[in-house]
Amino acid sequence: MMIKEKINAMFPAEQDIPAEFRLSSEIHQKELLINGKMIKWNGDSQQVYSPIHTYKDGKLEAKLLGSFPIAGEKEAQMALDAAVKAFDNGRGEWPTMSIAERISCMENFTKLMIQKKAEVVNLLMWEIGKTYGDSLKEFDRTVEYIFNTIDELKKLDRDASRFVIDSGIIGQIRRAPLGVVLCMGPFNYPLNETYTLLIPALLMGNTVMFKPPKHGTLLHCPLYECFLKAFPKGVFNTVYGKGSNVVPTLMSSGKVNVLTLIGSSKVADQLKKMHPKVNRLRAILGLDAKNAAIVTDSADLELSVKECILGSLSFNGQRCTAIKIIFVHKSKADAFVKRFSEEVNKLKAGMPWEKDVTLTPLPEPGKPEYLQKCIEDAKANGAQVCNEEGGYNYKSFSFPAVLYPVNEKMICYREEQFGPLVPIVPFEDIEEPINYLITSDHGQQVSIFGQDTAMLADLIDPLVNQVCRVNINCQCQRGPDTFPFTGRKDSAEGTLSVNDAIRSFSIRTMVAAKQTEANKDIINHIVESGESNFLSTRFIF
Ligand code: G3H
Repeated sequence: MMIKEKINAMFPAEQDIPAEFRLSSEIHQKELLINGKMIKWNGDSQQVYSPIHTYKDGKLEAKLLGSFPIAGEKEAQMALDAAVKAFDNGRGEWPTMSIAERISCMENFTKLMIQKKAEVVNLLMWEIGKTYGDSLKEFDRTVEYIFNTIDELKKLDRDASRFVIDSGIIGQIRRAPLGVVLCMGPFNYPLNETYTLLIPALLMGNTVMFKPPKHGTLLHCPLYECFLKAFPKGVFNTVYGKGSNVVPTLMSSGKVNVLTLIGSSKVADQLKKMHPKVNRLRAILGLDAKNAAIVTDSADLELSVKECILGSLSFNGQRCTAIKIIFVHKSKADAFVKRFSEEVNKLKAGMPWEKDVTLTPLPEPGKPEYLQKCIEDAKANGAQVCNEEGGYNYKSFSFPAVLYPVNEKMICYREEQFGPLVPIVPFEDIEEPINYLITSDHGQQVSIFGQDTAMLADLIDPLVNQVCRVNINCQCQRGPDTFPFTGRKDSAEGTLSVNDAIRSFSIRTMVAAKQTEANKDIINHIVESGESNFLSTRFIF
């Protein structure tokens, strides 16, 4: 079968979906988790359609998965009030609880969460079209992230379970919570990336308002009962509704202490400005990126092709860390484009549950049309689509387009396409890709390919001051999660990793006293009585 025919035949009839991946029923969420209660919702609902189309009575239709509440300002205010009350100016049960007790709540949550794995993984596939393998990985990586964060917090707490004495002052320094956190995750890693914000925020003693992403929303629903069972009331609250309607209510209240989101820099910028006292707001953000690959003349062709395919087209290019533009030295460009195009056309398109599938339907409505617009624009400015059927769209599916030679007049040169479109730019002088990075609004990562060590060294030194991760002979990526994940310019604010995130969501705070006999007695008494969770030398093993 030709590529086009295969694509046209990719969507299944209901009876062709393997039994284990069928949805047992639609999920119509009619409740909001606020202040430790599931509150009935009788208002408007947003219907959720899958990017996966199925045949019904011979007609191909996007499958209805369920619906979620379109709540309003009133409910957002209720969530805010609950989070503020649970924090209670730092006097609430959660922020004053010992770290060991907080960890125990989180462990209980994780135990409950693991029981929901099959349901969440299936919804990941249906809601955002992520392959079964990647959906499983997303769930497992999240659970591992939670355990690793707990371990890291234990280490941090052990180090803080002692006193320091300097210049006649005795001090105990710990990390304390910041307050009320508004947490919003992205649609491409709706579970994992959201939880890499949510989990450290909670563990550090903050209270949270959680707004689910616009796609990958329903998969959070089965997990709400786990939050309900594991945490004190008001610690975790949901916010539903149109962002432009409900989020300003929260931000303009001045009661949000931390804004954490993975999304667009434009939105983050607007939200920060809504806070009446910006200095009281901490922002922890993962934002736009347009990571480049630079394939130099000494690069191993096959290795660069393999890594650039992975980097640009894993999950259809819908990763913030994806390689979104490839610069190839002119001496290698023709061979690279040819081999790259051949490899793209070997990728299997299909349903997320199919074995060895890579290319799947896209969750964002209008995305295939946007990609088409970029292709037409590139063609009008002198590029060609180099792979057979590149850019072919069918319903929610778009076959990857390899565009070459790309130049600065084209939309795809600067815009973050966040989809299956690979712009390739030939270069003669290494200054060209370096200048591209310098003049870019983004500064997350870069991948450099080459075997000439002197050339690589020459590139590394200027590039580490442009981006926050320089990958040698491999694709860009966030993991492993112990590595710092951040960016310069419009790509990020703050640093995330197992280790960094618990610091991002807390502040160093200390108790200090002059080193007098009387003060030593007071401190010893408090420590021995175990009456304070902060001033304590208790050790978590
Ligand atoms: O969307 C951005 C994700 O953080 C990417 O994570 O590089 O591990 O796929 P990853």
